[in-house]
Amino acid sequence: MLLSSRVKGISDSITMKLNEKAIQLTEEGKVIYNLSGGQLPIKPTHEFIEKIHHQLNFLKSYQYSPSAGFPALRKKLIRHFVDSRKLPSEIFENDWDVILSNGSKHTLYNALGALIDPGDEVILLAPYWVSYPEMIKFWGGIPTIVKSNVFDAFVPAIEDIRKTITPKTKVIIVNSPNNPSGVHYSEAWMKEFAVLMHENPDLVVISDEVYSDITYFDPKPSYFYQFDNSLLPRTIIVHAISKTLAATGLRLGWAVAPASIVSAMAKIQGQTTSGPNSLMQRALLDFDFNFLESFLTPVKNHIRQNAATLREKFREASLGHCWYQSTSAFYFMIDFSRTPMFQRFAPEQDHSDLIADELLNNEGITVVPGSDFGLPNTARIALVIEEVPFQEAITKIVRYLNKF
Ligand SMILES: Cc1ncc(COP(=O)(O)O)c(C=O)c1O
Repeated sequence: MLLSSRVKGISDSITMKLNEKAIQLTEEGKVIYNLSGGQLPIKPTHEFIEKIHHQLNFLKSYQYSPSAGFPALRKKLIRHFVDSRKLPSEIFENDWDVILSNGSKHTLYNALGALIDPGDEVILLAPYWVSYPEMIKFWGGIPTIVKSNVFDAFVPAIEDIRKTITPKTKVIIVNSPNNPSGVHYSEAWMKEFAVLMHENPDLVVISDEVYSDITYFDPKPSYFYQFDNSLLPRTIIVHAISKTLAATGLRLGWAVAPASIVSAMAKIQGQTTSGPNSLMQRALLDFDFNFLESFLTPVKNHIRQNAATLREKFREASLGHCWYQSTSAFYFMIDFSRTPMFQRFAPEQDHSDLIADELLNNEGITVVPGSDFGLPNTARIALVIEEVPFQEAITKIVRYLNKF
C-alpha cells in the first residue's frame, strides 16, 4: 500500500522499540537491566488512586469532556501554575487558559500544529527529547539544532542559539529539567535566555516542564518568564501527570497558554481525539497537589542515590571525563567518546547505536543511544530502577567502558 510522505518521513520511537526488545529478552529468560525506561517503576500515590476509584461511580467520568477539558480543572491548573512559579496572579485573570490532552506528547503535537506552517524552523537544544524532531517534521516544520557537550553539563550556550535564529525561526522548545541529560538550566541561563527572547519579538517558546517536580539538587528550576513576565504572552507551558504522579499510562497532559493559542489547539484536538480522558480529569480535579511532596521525596532520594552510585563507580574506575553532575529528571548521559572502549572507533562518526547494541547483547543492559537525542557517541541511562540491580548494571557498564 502507498503510504503518505508525511508518515514516511517519521522515525519509529527508539525508546519504545528498545523497551520492547528488553521485555522480549526478559521473557526469553535472559537477565536484562532495563536502563532505557522513561518512567517510574511504581504506582501513583494512593491518594490519587482513591480519587480514580471514587470517580468510577459517576456517569460523567465515562462521557465526552469539552474539547479543551473541564473548565474547573483548567482553572485549578492555572492556579497551581501561578502558585508554584510564584507569578503575579493578575496576569492570568484574563486571556489565559489551559488545554488538557491525552498526555503531554499530545499537547506538544497540538501546540506545534497550531503554530507552524510548512518550512518554518523550530530550534531544539541538544540533547533533546527524541520525539521533538519527529513532531516538527509531522507538521512540515524543520528542526534546527543547537548542540552542547559534557563539559558544559549539556547546557547549550545562548550565543549558539542566537546564531541559529533565522527569519524562518518560529518556535524554540526549551526542556528544563531536561530529558535526556538530567540537568536543569541555571537561573543565569534563564535570564540570558529572556534577553535573547526580547531581541526576537516574534519568537514563541514552548517550555516543556514535565520534569519540573523531579529535582534532587538545589537550586530548584527557574524559568525565563519568572524574570521577565512580559514574555508570558508568547510562552506555552507544558506539563503532565506522567512523570510527577508516576502515571504514564493514564495519558493526561496540559498546556497553560494564552487563550488564543489554547483555542487554536482545541480546534485541532476537537477534530482528532475530541477531548481528553474524562475519568482522569475528574480524578485530578479532586486530587490535592499538596500530597505530591510526600510522594516525590522518596522518589527523589532514590534517584539521587543512584546518581551518586554511578559517579562513585565511574570515579573508582578512573572514568573521569565522560560524566557530569546530574540534578533532575530520571536520567544521566554518558559520553562514550571519552572512554577507553572508544579507542577502536573513528571519532568523527557516530557509533552510539552500535555501542547500545553491544551493551544489550554482551552485558544485558539497555540504554538509549545518543544518535536519537542529537548528540553522537553518547547514551542516556535511566536512574529509576532499584538500588541493587542498578549497582550491578553500573558495574557491568564500567567494565565494558574500560575494556578493549
Ligand atoms: C521531555 C518530555 N516531554 C514530554 C514527554 C511526554 O510525556 P507524556 O506524553 O507521557 O505526558 C516526555 C516523555 O518521556 C518527555 O520526556
